[in-house]
Amino acid sequence: MKTWQYLLAGLATLAAASALTMGPVRLPNNNGYINITLGASPDNSLLECVYHLEGEEVATRVSWEHWDGGETKGRYDWYASLPNQASGALRSVVNMDREDGSLEFLDLNYDLSGEYSCSVTLSSGEEQVAARWEVPVVDSVSHLSLLHRSLSDCLYTSNYSTLAMYPEPVVRAGLYSEEMGGFYKEVLGSQWLVDTHTNGSVTYSYSGISFELNAETPVDISFYVMVGVMKRDGNYIPISSTLDKHIILHQLGCQEPRVAAYQHIDYHRDTITCRGEHRETEATVTCKKGYHADGDVEAVMISCNEVTRTWMLEDGQPAKREDLGCVIDGAPSTASVSTALLAAALVLQRFLLP
Ligand SMILES: *[C@@H]1O[C@H](CO)[C@@H](O)[C@H](O)[C@H]1NC(C)=O
Ligand SMILES: *[C@@H]1O[C@H](CO)[C@@H](O)[C@H](O)[C@H]1NC(C)=O
Ligand SMILES: *[C@@H]1O[C@H](CO)[C@@H](O)[C@H](O)[C@H]1NC(C)=O
Repeated sequence: MKTWQYLLAGLATLAAASALTMGPVRLPNNNGYINITLGASPDNSLLECVYHLEGEEVATRVSWEHWDGGETKGRYDWYASLPNQASGALRSVVNMDREDGSLEFLDLNYDLSGEYSCSVTLSSGEEQVAARWEVPVVDSVSHLSLLHRSLSDCLYTSNYSTLAMYPEPVVRAGLYSEEMGGFYKEVLGSQWLVDTHTNGSVTYSYSGISFELNAETPVDISFYVMVGVMKRDGNYIPISSTLDKHIILHQLGCQEPRVAAYQHIDYHRDTITCRGEHRETEATVTCKKGYHADGDVEAVMISCNEVTRTWMLEDGQPAKREDLGCVIDGAPSTASVSTALLAAALVLQRFLLP
């Protein structure tokens, strides 16, 4: 073919497309599925065949096909000049009295899940078909209250159950940390029980699964349950999620205090958390046996500020190792040593600091 022939072929296609343009099939409010719990209504169970006419043309027929797993399960034909016809799975569930070619279900059941395509025929005889579109029929209500959990001995133990759902859900539950990029420890696939009901709906549950909280547990850890439905095209539809937030936030404390080798720490009050941190703590730092205070201060009191998670002195200042200087017993006190010795002692002390 010569170039001008290609051009003409292209123009012919454009001309044909402009008489009737088809959009994809759509549900009301940009919904991605039909919610069976809401019941049939034009706000929930109405499939629209989107098309746009040019000029004088009118649509004389709109035909719907329902597919499931590559097989046609039902059909609905709307005619501008009535009567309309429905067959297969669409018989007796479709509103036959609509004046447009939309497919409205008056009765919902699981078998209506699947793919739908529509085609429009014009008075000129021209016909266009919209691509098939998947319409899941989902039976599930939010079940936020079905997570039961307890935290004791640094074990987070929980039970969870979905309600009866259709189609089979995709479920995930476990310790979750945004900092760590998602699920940190998870309920295994084999730990979920699957109960299939006679009408085809299923219940997913687990009980008594424990996770240990320890020094490696991220600070932002939560327990997260995600329930959704996967469309055949791989798109995930979230249905319910439950987040037990920051389960060890009330348990955070200060890390092990870093005392110098010549210092000794005595705890008067102390609680060690699951992450091995100190809270509700009060302690005294003194010079270790064989050392004595290098100055007037013989001991410093420190406590953990649980908001900033840092060690503080009694006066509210941050505690540092050099707040208490100690020297070896028997060594001359710094007041009497020569300048050279004092410099050496300072160097030694700096050596021991962080
Ligand atoms: C369906 O609608 C019910 C009632 O409004 C609602 O509780 C439920 O979460 C909805 N389910 C889905 C899957 O959207
Ligand atoms: C989980 O369920 C078991 C029995 O099924 C019950 O004994 C236990 O107390 C439940 N645990 C929680 C945290 O609710
Ligand atoms: C299917 O069975 C379950 C469990 O018996 C029930 O809760 C659900 O409502 C049923 N769904 C339909 C659409 O009949």
